[in-house]
Amino acid sequence: MTVEKRILCIGAGYVGGPTMAMIAHKCPQYRVTVVDINGERIARWNSDRLPVFEPGLDEIVRDTRGRNLFFSTDIPKGIAENDIIFVSVNTPTKTFGVGAGMAADLRYWEMTAREILKYAKSPKIVIEKSTLPVKTALAMERILNSNHHGIAFDVLSNPEFLAEGSAVRDLESPDRILIGSEQTEEGLRARDTLVEIYANWVPREKILTSNIWSSELSKLVSNAFLAQRISSINAISALCEKTDADVTEVSRAVGMDSRIGPKFLNASIGFGGSCFKKDILNLVYLCQHYGLTEVADYWNAVLRINDYQKDRFILTMINAMFHTLSDKKICLWGFAFKADTGDTRESPAIYIARRLVEENARVVVSDPRALENARADLRDTGADVSYVEDPAEAARGCHALCVLTEWDLYRHQDFEKIYHSMEKPAFLFDGRNILDHEMCFDIGFNVYPIGKPPLTHF
Ligand code: NAD
Ligand code: UGA
Repeated sequence: MTVEKRILCIGAGYVGGPTMAMIAHKCPQYRVTVVDINGERIARWNSDRLPVFEPGLDEIVRDTRGRNLFFSTDIPKGIAENDIIFVSVNTPTKTFGVGAGMAADLRYWEMTAREILKYAKSPKIVIEKSTLPVKTALAMERILNSNHHGIAFDVLSNPEFLAEGSAVRDLESPDRILIGSEQTEEGLRARDTLVEIYANWVPREKILTSNIWSSELSKLVSNAFLAQRISSINAISALCEKTDADVTEVSRAVGMDSRIGPKFLNASIGFGGSCFKKDILNLVYLCQHYGLTEVADYWNAVLRINDYQKDRFILTMINAMFHTLSDKKICLWGFAFKADTGDTRESPAIYIARRLVEENARVVVSDPRALENARADLRDTGADVSYVEDPAEAARGCHALCVLTEWDLYRHQDFEKIYHSMEKPAFLFDGRNILDHEMCFDIGFNVYPIGKPPLTHF
């Protein structure tokens, strides 16, 4: 088959790998290469143990790898040989200098721009896949077009909306694809090239085009709105606990209003993941930069409620367990920031585990996919934390069991047996409201859900 387009992606992470695998899967006529500076990551993409766990991803990679999907560390060759370059490098929160703790750290992004500039020998379309502050494309364009070889670069914004755990489904049938371009003749031509790629499997009416700044901002705003819904329901969960209302009933009633909708209204221990916090901080920083103090405060409150929710969880535990956790054994069911992923970045479980260790508790962490990351996240806590994959085994001899990730397997445990293997009185703190609380109470547990009255035997 003749190769119709040669596509490169710089950055083989949670976004770059799955996104390019989907393009290669849907478009056998294109040759797709993914490059990264991290040789170990590339080696894993080339192995049977992919660096990212996503339901359905292994099959797609197995089907395309070596055919029209390639993983490599040869960045110069990749840049020289491909005309369409996605950039999907990490854009974490800056930890130093101006904007520390809020602004996006653009060093990886700028490094990529300079590499493209160095190795490009022909015109390129460069596509921002990473989530970036508004106007970053302008900086990229300035760097690239500062070249003295007369090579033309077009920069597009094409933010990614996939969620971890459902990445394959989200990539296969996205709600929308957003492409921002400059409104010049060249910008629109570049935009149409990218539209053509997605049109291989995405219905045309779902491919939105906009100006480049709207596209960059829409990504930050989408994440901010999603996080805001979670903080809204979590704030209400605190009120439910004071008033004997049930947050699940409230969210069902509220979500049935078609103007509001039912999604993202599950009260929890708080949102985690690599993006919500960093993207909201980024939005807050932008607002402050433009002197919009009230707008910045408004979005900052979404983060404050998220921290408050995690603190409340710990305080509920301490209060329920007779004001001391010292030397008590606490089992954490789930360490990933959500189910169906091994990712633990910004997982509320990290905070909860650390707070428990501060209280001199002994922590047992259990998770079907995230134990490797959990060990790395809690490396410095030493002997206070142990790791046991089997949930029932992990709970054995514990004073309390906390559900921190909504893995389906936790719903289907033998709670009778688990109860009998635990210290008494046995406590259950369901940070995801996924268990059958009445049933657990009847077995003997003292049950503390989120946003509902506790069920206790005292
Ligand atoms: P990641 O950390 O998993 O992957 C980024 C990769 O880029 C790393 O493997 C890193 O080694 C590589 N890299 C960094 N600098 C490089 C360079 N100069 N040359 C080559 N490779 C380089 O990050 P991610 O989760 O894939 O996120 C990437 C971007 O996508 C971020 O901006 C993020 O906000 C955004 N995003 C992430 C998600 C998600 O679910 N994780 C969803 C939508 C958008
Ligand atoms: C989120 C967005 O959903 C994606 O659209 C976006 O592309 C991505 O961020 C990104 O930019 O990185 P992700 O963080 O992977 O995706 O997962 P979500 O499903 O959004 O969950 C985020 C957190 O919110 C998890 O900790 C989850 O448990 C929590 N959550 C979610 C709740 O506490 N309650 C809910 O009702 C929904």
